[in-house]
Amino acid sequence: MDRLLSSARAVRSHAYAPYSSYRVGAALLTRSGGIHAGCNVENATYGATQCAERNAVAAMVAAGDRDPVACVVVTGGPRPGSPCGICRQVLSEFARDLKIVLVAEDEGGRVTGRSTQSLAALLPLAFRLRPLSRASSARPGRTRSRKA
Ligand code: THU
Repeated sequence: MDRLLSSARAVRSHAYAPYSSYRVGAALLTRSGGIHAGCNVENATYGATQCAERNAVAAMVAAGDRDPVACVVVTGGPRPGSPCGICRQVLSEFARDLKIVLVAEDEGGRVTGRSTQSLAALLPLAFRLRPLSRASSARPGRTRSRKA
């Protein structure tokens, strides 16, 4: 958990958030012990903004890893920020459930709030086209066709 928190903190320092000034860092721990991090990347169109959690998922997939078991999200301010609905859905593509640790810190890096959630509680009825076992576990180069 310490490694995961350090990774989320470190990536948060790279966030590109000139419009909201709300910097977010997310780090995923996978079953194999991999850690994959992402920060938010804003855009002048606003709508093209990418969230930290989704960028962490993209980093995991790009590294050829799967099966996230925990996610730490670090934000600023007095209270932790909760993952948005799209990020919950994207996380649920790869895990039925996931421990989500939300940490808020002040500008000096002192923790001001912390809460632990489960993805299953945050998104109880995730949309799926097929059972998770046949979708998210597909490894690079082994992606199944829709008919399979
Ligand atoms: N943001 C995230 O990175 N993750 C979320 O789950 C919610 C929001 C970012 C997007 C935007 O850059 C900023 O926070 C304010 O919405």
